[in-house]
Amino acid sequence: MLFEKYRLVAMPPAKWAELIVDPDKCTGCGRCVKTCPVQLLEIYNKVSRSNYRYDAFRCLTCENCATVCPEGAIRIEKDYRVPRGFWKNENLYTGTKTLPAPFGKNNGTDFESYQHKLTEVERVIYKRRSNRLFKKKQVEPELLNRIIEAGRFAPSAGNNQPWKFVVIQDPKVLTELNRRSKKVLRFFSRLCIPGTWMDKYTPGDKKAKLKRWQKWLLWVLVWFVGGDADQRAHGGLNAVTSDPDQSVFFNAPTMIIFLADKRAIGGTEFDLGLCAHSMVLTAHSLGLGTCYIDLITKALEYDKKFQKRLGIAYPFQVITSLAVGYPQGKIDGIVRREKPRVTWIK
Ligand SMILES: Cc1cc2nc3c(=O)[nH]c(=O)nc-3n(C[C@H](O)[C@H](O)[C@H](O)COP(=O)(O)O)c2cc1C
Repeated sequence: MLFEKYRLVAMPPAKWAELIVDPDKCTGCGRCVKTCPVQLLEIYNKVSRSNYRYDAFRCLTCENCATVCPEGAIRIEKDYRVPRGFWKNENLYTGTKTLPAPFGKNNGTDFESYQHKLTEVERVIYKRRSNRLFKKKQVEPELLNRIIEAGRFAPSAGNNQPWKFVVIQDPKVLTELNRRSKKVLRFFSRLCIPGTWMDKYTPGDKKAKLKRWQKWLLWVLVWFVGGDADQRAHGGLNAVTSDPDQSVFFNAPTMIIFLADKRAIGGTEFDLGLCAHSMVLTAHSLGLGTCYIDLITKALEYDKKFQKRLGIAYPFQVITSLAVGYPQGKIDGIVRREKPRVTWIK
């Protein structure tokens, strides 16, 4: 339809994935509740269940809840699909999600049976999951040094090595980072989230809709911030801003802020992505857990005063941030992902 891609920008009608908890297996340990970045689960009668208050923001299908569950009590079915309008994605996916299938024919049925054939790098890549359950124990400087060294040897356009890191371990500065980030994020949540979901302790109105001005604003915003206007991003935003107890970086004892020299050749974001992910994989291979926290990046962008306090100044720009710490129990593990979209030209 003509103008189709200009329609339904704000909260498009979507089919969401379904979270299914087996009450007979669930012990109510609450690990899934803490790990969900969108806060979609709660403990009710000592068993985990979907939190139906958050009707507009649902499952991202990261499957972390299933991975951290020691009893295998959770599974995710179906997927996020938008049938029409600006965010239409039905045609983008192959429609099949599988576990890792590096040897094709296994088709991901039993990772344990073939993982001995994989390299250590492959194993870490497949098993790495975003870690949102951290022990209080601090990461030792020797390990952080190993992680940063791995980043230093990442490729970069023109070998510019445009990265710089701010490593925060001081509890006072971390508390301040959380508080200030929430303040900025709360402002943004007022712009794009239906009001009733702003306060975790207020019973949610499942029927609450965006106000007319919010819809118009989102329509404008999408041209400036692109995918950040996607309703799934608002789910994460809502989780951290509606719950005073939720830390934006999950109380990780160490935060690494990634900066890029704006004067470097090519797109520094890509360089920094390569650098950050070399560090992430190294951290996981050392038994640590990590989670990228872009919400912090967004908040820092608008808090120049705090940037100054952290020593961030021109020509450096905040690109992303990473929570690092020791995982509470087993978190890394195998999940399903969409089959790749590949055009083979032979
Ligand atoms: C650039 C980037 C930014 C992210 N920002 C956040 C964030 O702000 N908060 C969060 O909880 N997770 C964040 N994540 C983690 C994603 O939610 C996660 O990678 C995704 O759901 C897939 O799950 P997995 O990492 O366990 O495979 C981010 C990931 C990336 C790559």
